[in-house]
Amino acid sequence: MILTKINAVNFRNYKKFNIKLNDKVNIFIGNNAQGKTNILESIYVLALTKSYRTNYDDNLKRKGSDSYKIKGDIKVGKYSKSLEISVLNGEKKVFINNTNIKKISDYVSNLNVILFSPEDVETIKGAPTVRRELLNIEMSQLYQKFIKNYNEYNKILKMRNDYLKLIYTNSISDDRYLDVLTNNLIDRAAYIYEQRLLFIDKINNNIGNIFKVLTGSDNLRIVYETNVDILDIDQEKIKDILKEKYRKNKQKEIMAGMTLYGPHRDDYHFYINDADIKLYGSQGQQKMAMIAFKLSEISIFEEATETKPLLLLDDIFSELDKTKRNRLINYINDDIQVIITANDTVGISKKLLENATIFRIENGEIKDKG
Ligand SMILES: Nc1ncnc2c1ncn2[C@@H]1O[C@H](COP(=O)(O)OP(=O)(O)OP(=O)(O)O)[C@@H](O)[C@H]1O
Ligand SMILES: [Mg+2]
Repeated sequence: MILTKINAVNFRNYKKFNIKLNDKVNIFIGNNAQGKTNILESIYVLALTKSYRTNYDDNLKRKGSDSYKIKGDIKVGKYSKSLEISVLNGEKKVFINNTNIKKISDYVSNLNVILFSPEDVETIKGAPTVRRELLNIEMSQLYQKFIKNYNEYNKILKMRNDYLKLIYTNSISDDRYLDVLTNNLIDRAAYIYEQRLLFIDKINNNIGNIFKVLTGSDNLRIVYETNVDILDIDQEKIKDILKEKYRKNKQKEIMAGMTLYGPHRDDYHFYINDADIKLYGSQGQQKMAMIAFKLSEISIFEEATETKPLLLLDDIFSELDKTKRNRLINYINDDIQVIITANDTVGISKKLLENATIFRIENGEIKDKG
């Protein structure tokens, strides 16, 4: 898919912008704090209805204004549609072809983006919740059913945790309701496990090769970790295993007052050979591993949506040595729309610049293309 146009009003440090994008490579150049990342963020918000940099829509509104609006036109093959998101007085609305869409889950997945941002190394270094969140976001873009299941899972999980606490503190003897909650939880959990494991398998099919092309070194892979012994990626079998797990650990969970097993407790790590790069990787390796992860997603997105996603690459070239930078450019200079930010064009190869439209950003304004 191609984002042909994007415009915004009162978004971050922009009063207004109106950009016609190149089908291939778009490079936003400027000094620090001028508004380069804000452009990528606006595309991300248009796609996913929320930012990766803040949980508060208020931060996205230009200081002093009470609303923001982002609108974009996308093209998939010969079909085109317009997407719009606006926030006014705290109320968020989304539109497809000017029609208000009531459910966010019906909107997300119309524009697919894969973002690489400098904060991505937190996925490797940070807490398990950061890693789970990345999977949730990516799978929400791909499968509408995923958001629905995931939201339901979280709701039931909260109810189940509350009920476990009640059983413990009030000594409720009728725990039939717990069984109902457990069964409902298992239904969603089995789906989430299945989807996550399939997704990680697909990433692992690609990531090793991509990492090798980019860095020359072998054997990057992801290992999914769960405290439920899942043997096969099969929803029915996973359900049976979960049933047994909850049955056996009922007392333990009542004592703990919370659900101790399930996809909300899982994690995954990145390994080069047998070393977890969270513990042993260099900064450059961690960055390249995340880039390889994101690039691995392209074919997964393509398989699920029958079109290529947009690649949003924020500050991707900094910290990389020249060889890696060139390998990366060779890799991405392909049949996919790319939007890149950089401080300047120094170090960006001629090959990439040839296909590119360059936008210069200065203090919330897009200067002439040049
Ligand atoms: N809600 C807002 N209203 C007005 N200005 C804002 C708002 N949020 C952020 N800014 C301003 O936007 C600028 C940062 O923009 P951005 O993160 O896009 O910078 P950048 O060009 O990517 O810089 P760097 O090269 O350092 O990454 C800062 O000057 C910041 O003060
Ligand atoms: Mg930036």
